[in-house]
Amino acid sequence: MKFPVNDIINLLDDRLELNLAESTNKDLILEEIWDEAFSQGLKKLKLEYGTSQGNEELRELVSQKLEVDKKNIVITNGSAFGNFLSMLCLCDTGDEVITVQPNFPPMMDLIEGLGFKKKLLKLSFEEKYQLNEEELFKTITEKTKLIILVSPLNPTGTTLSRAEVEKISIRLNDEYPNCRLLIDETYREATYGNNEVIPTFAGLKNNIITVSSLSKCHGTPGLRIGWLYSSDANFIKEVSIAKVNTVITNSVLDEYVATQVLKKETEIFQARRIQSAKGLELTKKWVELNEQFIKWNEPSAGALCCIKLKETIFGQEQIEQFYSLSKHAGIQIASGEWFGETNRCFRLGFGYMEIKQLIKTLEKLTEIIKVTVTNKELL
Ligand SMILES: Cc1ncc(COP(=O)(O)O)c(C=O)c1O
Repeated sequence: MKFPVNDIINLLDDRLELNLAESTNKDLILEEIWDEAFSQGLKKLKLEYGTSQGNEELRELVSQKLEVDKKNIVITNGSAFGNFLSMLCLCDTGDEVITVQPNFPPMMDLIEGLGFKKKLLKLSFEEKYQLNEEELFKTITEKTKLIILVSPLNPTGTTLSRAEVEKISIRLNDEYPNCRLLIDETYREATYGNNEVIPTFAGLKNNIITVSSLSKCHGTPGLRIGWLYSSDANFIKEVSIAKVNTVITNSVLDEYVATQVLKKETEIFQARRIQSAKGLELTKKWVELNEQFIKWNEPSAGALCCIKLKETIFGQEQIEQFYSLSKHAGIQIASGEWFGETNRCFRLGFGYMEIKQLIKTLEKLTEIIKVTVTNKELL
């Protein structure tokens, strides 16, 4: 098999009711954006092929958001396809792609799946998953064609600063002009309450490519709509040709709905950011309540974070019991192992479930932790 097996597939195929593993904000129901204009547009929609670069109105809306030219944007099937097309277009056999670990599993596995050399830069819980520029540059060689950084990072919710990215990009351009820097900013707009949204890295420097999508912050992963930006017109052309040669175009139905989602994103964001802020506050209190047993790194953005089961309390047997009792209680937990971390860590998504359900689930998890460490029966 070309792609390694990863149990993250259970998040799609074997969903449990109390989903603490999800990385998205609350799912959007079509009703939230349904009005007369939407309905009329839908009725008259011609189910033809789309265009290679993607629907023009949709690209216009994305370009306004990123403050870039729409001719430099390609609509993709989620950020996942933007990452895929970038690797495909920039790398040949024998070339290397560098990314960080922990990370969204398909990001790491795709490099291998496409037959390129995977180089992973390990980030550690103890160092708050911060990127070390020197370590990154030690990993780069003349064969490195692409570096993929993720901000905010899945599963940690850590972000890269503008100064950090600018410095890396300038140094990369000086030392390795044939290597591009892709910033996956899929979670960029998933902020909390009225917190400022992190500015995009699109357009910051010419060697930077960005990808993002409607999946996480708008709660519409099922639409499969994302976008790729590059200031390089030739690269945009290459990506569009690669798109036509693989999926031809996006679905015009998806593009239509995505356009309406973007037009109404202010309201869509508002509800989800309020929920994320409450979710984060609850998670913080929950971590404090259980500080004897667990620790975390507070995220900067994205409705997700990493929780670590303390080494002094949890042996491997207890860790396994924790996962098994959680599953038995109908709680979906995303093991750190999925992301290239140890299973002592797990990803906790606090923006997906309704608040009442999140409270109930965290209470159950406290009970499971206590039962695990005291070897008592679950009440
Ligand atoms: C960092 C990152 N990039 C890309 C994706 C894929 O998202 P999309 O639904 O936009 O393809 C994910 C999904 O979890 C992700 O975490």
